[in-house]
Amino acid sequence: MELTLNEKRLLVVLGTMGSADAAVLAEKMDTRREAVVQYANLAGDRGLVDVEKHVARRYVPTEEGRAYMGKGLPERQVLESFEESIPMRDLQGHPLAKIAIGWMRKKGWIAITGGVVTKTGKTAPGPDEAAFARLAESGEIADGEIADGEGVADLAKRGLVEEEETVAYTVSITARGRELLSQGLDLREEAGTLTREQILSGEWKSLPLRRYDVTKLPKRAYPGKTHPYQRIIDEMRRILFDMGFEEMSGGIVQSSFWNFDALFQPQDHPAREMQDTFFLGERRPLPKGYERVRDMHEHGGETSSTGWGGTWSAEKAEQCVLRTHTTGLSIQHLTQHPNPPVKAFCIGRVYRREAIDPTHLAEFEQLEGIVMDEDVNLRHLLGFLKEFYAKMGFEKVRFRPGYFPYTEPSVEPEVYVDGLGWVELGGSGIFRQEVTEPLGIEHPVLAWGLGISRVAMLRLGLRDLRHLYRSDIEWIRETPVYGGRR
Ligand code: PHE
Repeated sequence: MELTLNEKRLLVVLGTMGSADAAVLAEKMDTRREAVVQYANLAGDRGLVDVEKHVARRYVPTEEGRAYMGKGLPERQVLESFEESIPMRDLQGHPLAKIAIGWMRKKGWIAITGGVVTKTGKTAPGPDEAAFARLAESGEIADGEIADGEGVADLAKRGLVEEEETVAYTVSITARGRELLSQGLDLREEAGTLTREQILSGEWKSLPLRRYDVTKLPKRAYPGKTHPYQRIIDEMRRILFDMGFEEMSGGIVQSSFWNFDALFQPQDHPAREMQDTFFLGERRPLPKGYERVRDMHEHGGETSSTGWGGTWSAEKAEQCVLRTHTTGLSIQHLTQHPNPPVKAFCIGRVYRREAIDPTHLAEFEQLEGIVMDEDVNLRHLLGFLKEFYAKMGFEKVRFRPGYFPYTEPSVEPEVYVDGLGWVELGGSGIFRQEVTEPLGIEHPVLAWGLGISRVAMLRLGLRDLRHLYRSDIEWIRETPVYGGRR
């Protein structure tokens, strides 16, 4: 039988004490109680000691309970604050009146007539006060210490005391343990690592070596790592860089002009409500040349379009919003970079007034992309989307016709997910002339906006979108760095 040095040391201590509480043993062995319990369990498996576990319950005061300590329960304190009787109105001035009056009545200590509170004379302390006094004296009440326990239960119900569980261990040496001890134990320190000298000199052969159980799993280590969702976002950025896109960025607060008007979303049309919006009090001045956008809305500007008709309001366009999509960034980027070719993307958070459920949140991320060049067409758009999804691990992609006020044609890409079927992942299309013409963009623009939290959810095998935003450390630890790949 190969004992660890710690088990041997435990046996030596128990040799003189016979039996002792683990906490006492810990002190004697200059270690923690948990360590002693661990050694004792090892030695217990070998039949050298007995380990007995005792669970004890005790009651300790809560924060509120501590506040009354030494002064008595609130009803007692208030009762003693007046002589025979007192007007209710005066009594209510006592800081504890709110709690105390109900209890004084319930206990039959007072009668209230005509707005006057009078003592009944039956104000002897009950079992709860006895228990409370006991508590004040020793700071705790051990289980079974108070004969009927009733008073303690009352205090617990009122939230003045709470139950606490303590676990104690008694370790005793067995006859077998004694026998082994009498044979003498090698108490030399075990060698965990060998030095060069010990190896060269051959001294290692006579050293007591620490035994290792090579079948035991080591304790798991959790190194710091990037959040699974952030990792997927990083992966998407890398894919787009690989595909030759540059990154664009912009603020979360946008004027309605860039979020809606520049995208030919009518001001008084349900389409504007289509994305239920968080409007802000702030206003932003309109950019130079906004009149061309206004004219387009009102009558189609210089194109053959008829526009939306009606009067376009500059005031409405100045109103700021939390961006409802990242398409407003795309159009600003194009306005600043009107010369082809332009290939740009951004990944950013957007905001909508959604009712929150497992697949809808009021904030989520979109991946926005644009390609502007001479003669690009729908086939290029479908090709870009297909390639992006393929690189993300979604092999089967299909496109359905869709509608957006700013694109024509509009298509909604869907990917096939085993077990779920076809999942819609966003919108795309080619910007309408009504969008590009007023801003001086002369070549076709392919555009898309994809909901990426959904993609991440599918990749990570989650059923609830909210999980992506929770600080669930267990989940983050257990999600493998290269996992989640379909
Ligand atoms: N902005 C659209 C949305 O929020 C997506 C989209 C982007 C559609 C670009 C067409 C072109 O869903």
